[in-house]
Amino acid sequence: MDKQILKDTIVQLFAGSKGLLAMDESTSTSNKRFAFEGIPQTVEMRRKYRELIVTTPGLNESIGGAILYDETIRQQTKDGIPFTDVLIEAGIIPGIKVDMGAKLMAGFSDEKVTEGLDGLRERLQEYRKLGARFAKWRAVISIGDGAPTTGAIEANIHALARYAALCQEADIVPIVEPEVLMNGSHDLEHCYAITAQVLKTLFYQFSVYKIYLEGMILKPNMIIAGIESIVQNSVDEVAEATVNCLLESVPAAVPAIAFLSGGQSPEDATAHLNAIHTKFKNRLPWIVSFSFGRAIQQPALDKWKGEEANVEQAQRLLYLRTKCDLAARRGEYDASMEKQLIE
Ligand code: 13P
Repeated sequence: MDKQILKDTIVQLFAGSKGLLAMDESTSTSNKRFAFEGIPQTVEMRRKYRELIVTTPGLNESIGGAILYDETIRQQTKDGIPFTDVLIEAGIIPGIKVDMGAKLMAGFSDEKVTEGLDGLRERLQEYRKLGARFAKWRAVISIGDGAPTTGAIEANIHALARYAALCQEADIVPIVEPEVLMNGSHDLEHCYAITAQVLKTLFYQFSVYKIYLEGMILKPNMIIAGIESIVQNSVDEVAEATVNCLLESVPAAVPAIAFLSGGQSPEDATAHLNAIHTKFKNRLPWIVSFSFGRAIQQPALDKWKGEEANVEQAQRLLYLRTKCDLAARRGEYDASMEKQLIE
C-alpha cells in the first residue's frame, strides 16, 4: 500500500468542492430502470445511455469521479473512444463497482450479504489497468421485523473490511458503502440508531482489519424516516440527525464522506446536503460531499427515454442536477435553482 497515492486520489476526487457520480448500476438494475421507461434492455442501449452521461458537456465542473460498472468500464463511445479516456480527458477519475451484489443470507429471513471477495485481488489489478483509481462496495442493511440482526451486520462488515484491505493493497481507494435502506415504516430515530450501530461496528472492525482510515471514503445513507413512515421530517431535522449520527460514529481520520441518495428525490437529496453545510459547516471534520446515483441521473433518464433526439436535453438536465449538488456541497444551493430544470 502506498498511502500517499491513496491520499492524493481522495484530494483529487473532491478538489474544487466536487462530488462523485454513481453510474455503476449492475445490468439487472439498469434493465429494471430501462423497463420502467420503456427503453429496450440491450447492451447497446446501456452503452448509449452511458455515452450520454460521460459526454455531458460541463460534467467536470461538478464531478471529480465517476463510478463505473464492469460492463461500462470496457465500453467506448460510438467513435471508438473508451469511456475511461473520455472521463480522464475531462479530469474525472474513473472508479469501479467491485461487489457482485447483495444476495439472500442463508439461514436469515430476508436479510442480505454482499458477495464478491473471491478473486477480488486479481480483478482489482485488471481494473487498475483499465484506469480505475477507486472502487465501491455496497452492503445493504434493512430495517424491519427483527432486522437488522447482529449476524447480518457482522457478515456485511466483515466483507467490507476485507474488500477495503484488498483495495488499499492495490493502491485503489475503497469507497465503503454500508447502506441502511429507506424501505419500511420506521421513524428517523430508528434510522439514526441502526446507522450509528452499523457505523460503530464498522469502524471497530476496520481497526481489527488494519484498514488505513486516511485512505478510504465513507458512503453512508442520510438519517431519514422510512418511505412508509407517516411522519416525515423537515430538511433541517434530517440534516441535524445526519450530522449528529456521523459525529458520534465516524472517526475524524476519515478524510471524506460522500452520501448515497438511496431513493430520495433529487431535490430532497440536494436540499439535505445543502442544509448539512449551511447549518453545521463548522462542526464537520471531514469533506462532506455526494456520490448520488438516482438523485443525479433520474431526470435525465426520464427525459432520454432511449431516443437520440432527446440526448441534448437529457444532458442538460444531468448537467444542471450536478450544478445543484455542487452548490449544495458548498452550502450555496437555493431551491430557485430548480426552475432552470423545468424551463
Ligand atoms: P443512489 O444514490 O441511487 O442510492 O446510488 C448510489 C449508489 O452508488 C448505490 O450503490
